[in-house]
Amino acid sequence: MADRVLEGKVVLMTGAGRGMGREMSLALAEAGAKVAMIDIDEDVLTAAARDAEAAGGQGCALPIVCDVTDADRAAATLDEILGRFGRLDMLVNDAVVGPERIGDNFFHDPPKFWQLEDALWRQMLEVNVYGPQLMARTVAPTMLEAGRGRIVNVTTSLNTMYRAGAGCYGPSKAALEAHTHIMAHDLEGTGVTANVLIPGGPVNTRMIPVASGVDRAALIQPTVMRAPIVWLCSDDSDGVSGMRFIALRWDASLPRDERIEAAGAPVAWTQLGAQSVQPD
Ligand SMILES: NC(=O)c1ccc[n+]([C@@H]2O[C@H](COP(=O)([O-])OP(=O)(O)OC[C@H]3O[C@@H](n4cnc5c(N)ncnc54)[C@H](O)[C@@H]3O)[C@@H](O)[C@H]2O)c1
Repeated sequence: MADRVLEGKVVLMTGAGRGMGREMSLALAEAGAKVAMIDIDEDVLTAAARDAEAAGGQGCALPIVCDVTDADRAAATLDEILGRFGRLDMLVNDAVVGPERIGDNFFHDPPKFWQLEDALWRQMLEVNVYGPQLMARTVAPTMLEAGRGRIVNVTTSLNTMYRAGAGCYGPSKAALEAHTHIMAHDLEGTGVTANVLIPGGPVNTRMIPVASGVDRAALIQPTVMRAPIVWLCSDDSDGVSGMRFIALRWDASLPRDERIEAAGAPVAWTQLGAQSVQPD
């Protein structure tokens, strides 16, 4: 069994039923954390929670069916976590409505913006931007009271944000990236941090449809998220906030500061913000 550096920590993972949310849940559980795993898809969630318990031990996973856009369910989920585990150390906003919902062929035959369905555009915004905001504002008071906590938002690579044919997926991730900067700013000095974690390229999940013909083995595998998410949850990342980390560049063999330097940069490209002219 891996080093249980997260013994005593409690994590809330959204989109935990499959893909990277599932993989991060397993890694966190294996490292000793208790993981509340939420998803809207009960079948995959139940299976993923079983896998997390196999990795981390009986009772370490708490599967809860919860839609990240439902404020009542979000509040009830927090109550359930506090009732069961007594604390909450980290929220990972991973749940997503991805571009595969546009169709199996969005890679090779990308629709123009005027061909997109309004309902799907709005759902992407709702789940990918409002969902993380709702979950974060639900858990923030608990973390602020504890004087310690982590919010990790999963966004995407910059070139995916402006990739044509993926509907609102890219713009929604750009919005979440910008919002993470605001979160980190508002949390300054509280002991609670906000960061972005991205894989660093296309990952072998359902987001890349099999019909796209891409060689699955050549894609990044979801396991790339394991080491950086465990570190972000650990005490070793205390004080690190307002950063975006690229999992693919995470090199656990490097000393801490070099590792952060190699994989991290300021969230939301704040270096570009200096381009605007502000009135005196
Ligand atoms: N797959 C990639 O190539 C890739 C690349 C870069 C970033 N990302 C990001 O990584 C994260 C995970 O992506 P993935 O490919 O593993 O996704 P996925 O589609 O495999 O899993 C997402 C999970 O979110 C759940 N979900 C959807 N709507 C929900 C809601 N309203 N409430 C709760 N749960 C909900 C789904 O049921 C699903 O189990 C996403 O934020 C995505 O934007 C993915």
